[in-house]
Amino acid sequence: MSRGQAPGKVLLVGEHAVVYGHPALAAAIPRQVTVEVEPAPAPALELPGGLSVPAELLQAAVELAREAGFEAGFRARVASEIPLGSGLGSSAALGVALARAFAPGCGPERAAALAMRLERVLHGAPSGVDPAACSQSGVIFFVRGEPPLVEPVRGGASLCILGSGIARGTRSTVLPLAERRRSDPRLDRALEKLGDLSRTARRLFEEGRLDPLGALFDEAHGLLRDPLGVSCPELESAVAALRSAGALGAKLTGAGGGGAAIGLARDQAHARELATRTGGFAVRIGSA
Ligand code: PMV
Repeated sequence: MSRGQAPGKVLLVGEHAVVYGHPALAAAIPRQVTVEVEPAPAPALELPGGLSVPAELLQAAVELAREAGFEAGFRARVASEIPLGSGLGSSAALGVALARAFAPGCGPERAAALAMRLERVLHGAPSGVDPAACSQSGVIFFVRGEPPLVEPVRGGASLCILGSGIARGTRSTVLPLAERRRSDPRLDRALEKLGDLSRTARRLFEEGRLDPLGALFDEAHGLLRDPLGVSCPELESAVAALRSAGALGAKLTGAGGGGAAIGLARDQAHARELATRTGGFAVRIGSA
């Protein structure tokens, strides 16, 4: 039997912009997806809680296994500390964990490239930021490409993650935004601005300047809400709850339309305080 594991992720800044070639800042979170694989006569994927496996997901796992050099049939059992559809990278973490189980010892670039098989099935035309974040530990600066640019970012921070209570697929906001972009020139300007914010956020993060970083989270959320239109009432409530609990700044994370929000904390004790006040959970990203 072989085992693979990978963490979930949050997008700190630059979601959606990254689809159009602008940079994003993303971080692995200490919540794992684990896969145990054993040879079997026919391929089978067992999701947590007996969730049914769409045929195209199984097919993508078979192709991933083959590309990783695993020729036999398999039974892959999945356990997850990340709720599926929560916007915290469960599908990318599943892809990276499968890659590590089928190709033990593979490096982060190869694991991320293999995981793209699943991402393409589940997300259409993904930028690749999710598998890159889930295959690295810590925080990364990412620009899509063949191959993508993935640079480690120094430093650490504490966050409170608060779910919106709405599960959703990434496609549900990425495709409508692509459509609206054709007729609304403001959207390209907002996407470019988000890319600039990713560059600034990287510098502030590395310098440990949390107050301006919090203000930058607020600014990024403003653009994602309007004109990009990828927030929703439940995410607005989550962001407002994090702010009124005392977060230095808060924003939706990932595709939006549901999923989760993140609030920046001063330190881990503050993140735990925010978690107690809002019902979210505290995480440390990057270095301790
Ligand atoms: O799957 P999510 O919610 O983490 O969203 C991924 C980030 C997007 O920029 C919205 C999509 C992408 O492919 O980069």
